[in-house]
Amino acid sequence: MKDPYGREINYLRVSVTDRCNLRCRYCMPKEGLSLFGHNDILRYEEILRVVRIAVSLGVAKVRVTGGEPLVRKGITEFLRALGEMEGIADLSLTTNGALLEAFATPLKEAGVRRINVSLDSLDKEKYRFITRGGSMEAVLRGISRARDVGMDPVKINVVTMRGFNDDEILAFADLTLDNPYEVRFIELMPLGGDAREPFGSFISASEIRKAIEERHVLKEVNIGGNGTDGPAVMCRLEGGVGLVGFISPISSHFCHRCNRLRLTADGHLRSCLFSDGEISLKEALRKGCSDGVLEELILRAVNAKPMRHDIAQGTRAALRCRRMSAIGG
Ligand code: 5AD
Ligand code: SF4
Repeated sequence: MKDPYGREINYLRVSVTDRCNLRCRYCMPKEGLSLFGHNDILRYEEILRVVRIAVSLGVAKVRVTGGEPLVRKGITEFLRALGEMEGIADLSLTTNGALLEAFATPLKEAGVRRINVSLDSLDKEKYRFITRGGSMEAVLRGISRARDVGMDPVKINVVTMRGFNDDEILAFADLTLDNPYEVRFIELMPLGGDAREPFGSFISASEIRKAIEERHVLKEVNIGGNGTDGPAVMCRLEGGVGLVGFISPISSHFCHRCNRLRLTADGHLRSCLFSDGEISLKEALRKGCSDGVLEELILRAVNAKPMRHDIAQGTRAALRCRRMSAIGG
């Protein structure tokens, strides 16, 4: 599928729930969350139908996200069904890692080969603070189990915030010296929730990179770099086995390389993370529509992809939009 700006759209991110067993400060408010009701959420069969049609239109890469996908009942069977679906060359999962230790083996068996784990601090008290109660040790155990069962790569996502974890940039980078992880530093995005809460502030990817380069020689590596690998700039520390990456949604636009669509847990196709323009599939699905109608709706979402976002200039629209947990990151 090509969008109006010539971008090949072949990547679908599927959010299976907006619920989460953590409450990261930049993502979710502490309370007063309006969670989708049971009936608002697409059933797994409905999601599988949408994915099958998207794959027939050219989607080859599927990532399952949340909220926290591992809290939804039946997730392993759902992933297995995706793993068995013809046409999906790449199936991956984004998780906060809290339940990963127990899930790593079943996930691998279901066909998930790659995994992204969010981990914003290597200090257990700071981790508990930023997630409002999470256990860093559990996540670390999950990460090493994922590696042990052969997930490759295991990516570690670090949302980097001044005054919170900027003093841990080197410690995170050093993880890649001896471990085959991809540690990816992500710029904080002003999205919904408590993103306005003054718990920390924005640091640009180039500043993060400079902090590492004060100690290490970084060599940029090209891992497939054909657009399906997403927007990270990847580097290797001299002598390191893993990689570090820099994801700069704010400071540098990668919109021109954007290849993705998002399916929200409540059945909307979202053509841009930063734009609230959405197309409802749920209504059509529940009216018993034909595959042709779904095809048309998917193509309509592709056609509605904006050329680029401009949240660096004006954050008002971004702040109004859905929380990350309700979009799927
Ligand atoms: N800015 C940057 N990253 C965010 N995430 C959630 N909210 C934000 C935000 N406001 C990240 C999570 C996870 C991924 C799914 O999205 O930490 O790594
Ligand atoms: Fe949950 Fe991820 Fe949001 Fe944290 S960032 S509250 S782990 S969905």
